[in-house]
Amino acid sequence: MSYQGKFRVWRGDDSGGGLEDFTVEVNEGEVVLDIIHRLQATQAPDLAVRWNCKAGKCGSCSAEINGRPRLLCMTRMSIFQESETITVTPMRTFPIIRDLVTNVSFNYTKAREVPSFAPPKDLAPGEYRMQQVDVERSQEFRKCIECFLCQNTCHVVRDHEENKEAFSGPRFLMRVAELEMHPLDTADRVDQAQDEHGLGLCNITKCCSEVCPEHIHITDNALIPMKERVADRKYDPIVWLGNKLFRRS
Ligand code: SF4
Ligand code: SF4
Ligand code: FES
Repeated sequence: MSYQGKFRVWRGDDSGGGLEDFTVEVNEGEVVLDIIHRLQATQAPDLAVRWNCKAGKCGSCSAEINGRPRLLCMTRMSIFQESETITVTPMRTFPIIRDLVTNVSFNYTKAREVPSFAPPKDLAPGEYRMQQVDVERSQEFRKCIECFLCQNTCHVVRDHEENKEAFSGPRFLMRVAELEMHPLDTADRVDQAQDEHGLGLCNITKCCSEVCPEHIHITDNALIPMKERVADRKYDPIVWLGNKLFRRS
């Protein structure tokens, strides 16, 4: 079963561009990335698109389909009506390189700003056993494929370029939370999250969690617990005193 599908694809570069209409054959079982490839093969050989695995694992093919942030390779054509015009645009939060390809280096800058895992210096391999509950907590966060759809969706930076310097975004606040929740980490991540990664700018709208292709509960399991730790430290007198006396070095 195949049909001629209607598509509007953004074409252009950092100097400007616009939507172009195409009619492309759609076959049963295909995903939007198949259509983009057919478009390249038959009508627009210079159309730029980034992809690698076509299996939802490399995180390269992030874009917006009918305005919703999605992976091109994991969006089945069968979720759309045959009569529908499908609009494919690049991620809006990052600067355009060309067509559907954006410059996501903002995310690499933010990744470098998170200090790495800091276990106790004198701990030898095999001296420590983690409880399963601690393993599972970080395992959820480790499913991240770094597609940056959450970063693209978060309104703190999507509509406010000026916030990019102060705000690391959900993916990297989640990384801070992952390290903070690790029983062996000795760094103080709570103040870092608030003061250096802009946790206070997040107003827990959960939009980041809604678009995550790995279904990670970014807001519920990473951002809200971090906010609770910040609030405990600031406003709970017993936690405050404990931190003064026994703060991790
Ligand atoms: S929950 Fe926070 S990080 Fe996620 S989209 Fe909303 S404001 Fe951004
Ligand atoms: S947390 Fe989810 S949406 Fe964000 S970069 Fe990782 S996989 Fe993508
Ligand atoms: S091509 Fe790898 S996630 Fe889509």
